[in-house]
Amino acid sequence: MASAVQRIGVVGLGAMGAGIAQVGIEAGFEVVGREVTADLADAASGRIGHFLARKVEKGQQTQDESKAALGRLSTTTDLADLATCDLVIEAIVEELGPKRALFVELERICDAEAVLATNTSALSVTEIAAATTRPDRVVGLHFFNPAPLMPLVEVVRAELTSDEAVATALGVVERFGKVAVPCHDTPGFVVNRVLIPLLNDCVRVLDESRVEPQALDLAMTSGAAWPMGPCALLDLVGIDVHVHASEALYGRLREPRMAPPPRLVAMRDAGLLGRKAGRGFYSYG
Ligand code: 3HC
Repeated sequence: MASAVQRIGVVGLGAMGAGIAQVGIEAGFEVVGREVTADLADAASGRIGHFLARKVEKGQQTQDESKAALGRLSTTTDLADLATCDLVIEAIVEELGPKRALFVELERICDAEAVLATNTSALSVTEIAAATTRPDRVVGLHFFNPAPLMPLVEVVRAELTSDEAVATALGVVERFGKVAVPCHDTPGFVVNRVLIPLLNDCVRVLDESRVEPQALDLAMTSGAAWPMGPCALLDLVGIDVHVHASEALYGRLREPRMAPPPRLVAMRDAGLLGRKAGRGFYSYG
């Protein structure tokens, strides 16, 4: 029997973590978000408050619903405050070392029955789980950017994940009102295994076809019905995030298409990281 989840911890309140926390409170869960400083935690709460206020302004939510949702969110800088969470979702930096260290800590702090999830996009859930003595309760819960808007969550079964942990994760995704696709722990899971080399191809086409980003985006939105063009999408995801995931997939699969195109690496090195930096393929006011 999968255990009933009431309280969810989210570790790391960057774009993904804050989005996941927003999904959780809107679905009626108590959410404890952890950041390394109070300023970062306050900034994340502010962003969530902004998106909920926009929903009220647009008539998608009542003031009371928005207020109640925000009332279910608390933030902390102390990981120990996640002790009573039934599910913890990790959304920190995409580095194996810090993630493994965090899971060791979470195992020490949380109840033995709590499910520990990682939102990693390209690392091995199995390797993260192996840092703990209870890898059976570790799963991948991979959200897509922006988490409040994108319906999909990949529910990733690592080598030793128990059926019970998978069932708990699936139950939570259902209560989030999201679409779950259960899959095994393979590099890039389902979507990134397809999307990352595809976006790399798009960037290579920019140079080969000698088209500007606007023209490529227009081609893919008008010719393939993409909701947004590949350059706009890379700016949304973050050039650094994409290059990092691309390198991780290349490291694991050794397929040339997985390797980040030099143009993207140069953009990353120059700080042209996309929307969050104000400049990527496009400029943002
Ligand atoms: N969090 C919460 N709410 C947000 C938000 C966010 N980050 N961003 C926007 N919103 C809200 C805003 O309130 C906005 O309304 P407002 O502008 O009136 O305030 C509202 O959502 C609607 O925003 P848009 O008008 O921009 O919505 P669109 O209808 O244009 O759709 C989209 C936006 C859903 C992003 C759509 O363009 C889309 O589907 N794009 C493709 C995104 C995609 O492919 N994502 C996956 C990336 S890959 C990934 O994440 C994997 C990872 O591992 C790298």
